[in-house]
Amino acid sequence: MKTVLITGGAGYIGSHAAKAFSEKGYRVIVLDNLIYGHKEFVKWGDFFNGDIGDDYLLKSLFCQFQIDIVSHFAAFAYVGESVQNPRKYYDNNLAKALVLLSHAVKNDVKVFQFSSTCATYGHPEHIPMTESHPQNPFTPYGKSKRFFEEILRDFASSYPIRFSILRYFNAAGADPAGEIGEDHDPETHLIPLILDAAMGRKRGIEIFGTDYDTPDGTCIRDYIHVTDLAAAHVLAAEKALNAESGIYNLGNGDGFSVKEVIEKAKAVTGRDIHVVEGERRPGDPARLIGSSARIKAELGWQPKYASLDKIIETAWAWHQKRFQTR
Ligand SMILES: NC(=O)c1ccc[n+]([C@@H]2O[C@H](COP(=O)([O-])OP(=O)(O)OC[C@H]3O[C@@H](n4cnc5c(N)ncnc54)[C@H](O)[C@@H]3O)[C@@H](O)[C@H]2O)c1
Repeated sequence: MKTVLITGGAGYIGSHAAKAFSEKGYRVIVLDNLIYGHKEFVKWGDFFNGDIGDDYLLKSLFCQFQIDIVSHFAAFAYVGESVQNPRKYYDNNLAKALVLLSHAVKNDVKVFQFSSTCATYGHPEHIPMTESHPQNPFTPYGKSKRFFEEILRDFASSYPIRFSILRYFNAAGADPAGEIGEDHDPETHLIPLILDAAMGRKRGIEIFGTDYDTPDGTCIRDYIHVTDLAAAHVLAAEKALNAESGIYNLGNGDGFSVKEVIEKAKAVTGRDIHVVEGERRPGDPARLIGSSARIKAELGWQPKYASLDKIIETAWAWHQKRFQTR
């Protein structure tokens, strides 16, 4: 049985990955300092409450377990905050991640998986964006991810470790069995914000810009179901364990506008949602759509929950369960 250490496994995507690895027969160990995570999301594997930059804790963890794969989700991911406070982002997403990677190399970990992002591409030069799209991130968050990708590639060319770099577009939806889901605080992602408005937890939803060069004037984004994302990690880990490193986009290859998402959420929830049309935010591109052709061709990855209906249905079921009782 192979062992995977999942950092950030008490968070949104990491907890879904813990479920996916566990269901495929891996032994799961979760490391999360719970700064944004939820202890109750750790339902698969052993839990260690601690920091990825804690040298002493890492020494003892790697000594205690023979870890084959590190699947590294732990990071800060508030783009706006990264502009206000870049030190916080370079410290957590880069410096601490390097401490973790060094321990992984010292302890003969075979594969290091990294949660990267479409934010490493910067403004799209072509749509859909492929893995070879130029990487010109324009925020400290995007740069912290881009720099760590470089470090990882250098480590893999000098030390006996392989990597999977997974560049996500917008993760969305929730575990179809309803066991885990999205709960960020503060929440900045579109779908949970719309569902908050549908549930009456917020007065409404603001659309940032209605004059973009898109059919309905609102921004178009690529949403990928978190369970499909989690499944891709298992496939990428197996490829790296048995053959070679890889860099893969993870998106649906299709996009939905903000207005389309709101309309779909109204239909799925059966609730009216108050909408306020506001100004554009600086730096928001009109369209961000990724090509996942490479991971489909090389790893046979096929999204099972790609439709916007499925994404919003699973998110809504989770949202009601999580927040109605609070
Ligand atoms: N959510 C998205 O749409 C999206 C898109 C692209 C990339 N990503 C990346 O995916 C990863 C997971 O995102 P998420 O949405 O699940 O975020 P999340 O905040 O729900 O999960 C991150 C987890 O990491 C933990 N953490 C942060 N710093 C830590 C540290 N120093 N030590 C230990 N634990 C720490 C947090 O407590 C949290 O549980 C992040 O690396 C993020 O940058 C997310």
